[in-house]
Amino acid sequence: MAGRLAVIGAGLMGSGIAQVAAQAGWTVSLRDLDQPAVRRGLTAIRTSLDRFAAKGTLTAEQVAVTLDRITPTTELEAAADADIVVEAVFERLDVKQEVFRALDRLCRPDTVLATNTSAIPITQIAAATQRPESVVGTHFFSPVPMMKLCELVRGLQTSDATLATARGFAEQVGKVCVVVNRDVAGFVTTRLITAFVVEAVKLVESGVISAEDLDTACRLGFGHPMGPLATADLTGVDVLLHAARNIHTDTADGKFVPPELMQRMVAAGQLGRKTGRGFYSYE
Ligand SMILES: NC(=O)c1ccc[n+]([C@@H]2O[C@H](COP(=O)([O-])OP(=O)(O)OC[C@H]3O[C@@H](n4cnc5c(N)ncnc54)[C@H](O)[C@@H]3O)[C@@H](O)[C@H]2O)c1
Repeated sequence: MAGRLAVIGAGLMGSGIAQVAAQAGWTVSLRDLDQPAVRRGLTAIRTSLDRFAAKGTLTAEQVAVTLDRITPTTELEAAADADIVVEAVFERLDVKQEVFRALDRLCRPDTVLATNTSAIPITQIAAATQRPESVVGTHFFSPVPMMKLCELVRGLQTSDATLATARGFAEQVGKVCVVVNRDVAGFVTTRLITAFVVEAVKLVESGVISAEDLDTACRLGFGHPMGPLATADLTGVDVLLHAARNIHTDTADGKFVPPELMQRMVAAGQLGRKTGRGFYSYE
């Protein structure tokens, strides 16, 4: 069923989604705001594909064909003929709503408009359009080429047909889907990991336990492959801080109040692996 996909945002997630779709035969346009951002996305895709080739999972020809299927662009108009659009821009409601407002004007009436948000209710994003029934959450996981899960999220007005198209797309690019029937803030996976990380940071900042020991306890005690603080470093401390703020704003549930330490780390640019320092040092 491969068709035409437009990915909006060529960051960590957008480039990964563009890659797996192109590998599965989709014709992909990958849009970001400026040329350097688009180039960074393409470089990430090339690096990932080369790694698969070095392992023998892909041939050099498959790498070349996959790259050929991806057209980088700074023009949102490239989404006009897409069957599915997946938005993966910053985790901010105003930025996402602006993108969806424009997509609503540009795209065909039968185009499915998906968002890769990790915590913002789909219904709020869909409200920027005149076609909320065509808007759905497709929450992929990082790194997209490796992680098998796609959390499909229904907004209040998402139609069965839209959900089925999104599921077909996600399965065709190799993912296993779970369906979240109501778009509660944080859905299911982000809600669980955010609660877990926030509680872990509170224990560390109040001196109850060191970051290393807390992660060791979760790995050896629960069999988790990675502790919550190492996970926060991988995901981005800023991403989880945004998630905690969004969930707290939506639910007023005190357990999602962002700990002071997380707020100060983000202010200091200690965002995790991507800046070389988070709860651990990667320099
Ligand atoms: N990082 C993760 O592990 C993860 C996992 C699941 C979901 N998500 C969600 O995916 C989305 C993207 O996250 P990310 O980690 O890829 O972020 P990122 O910061 O790596 O990339 C975001 C990209 O969007 C671009 N952008 C911003 N406004 C744009 C616009 N109007 N049009 C086109 N491009 C625009 C930015 O220039 C940037 O390149 C967020 O909603 C995030 O919550 C992230």
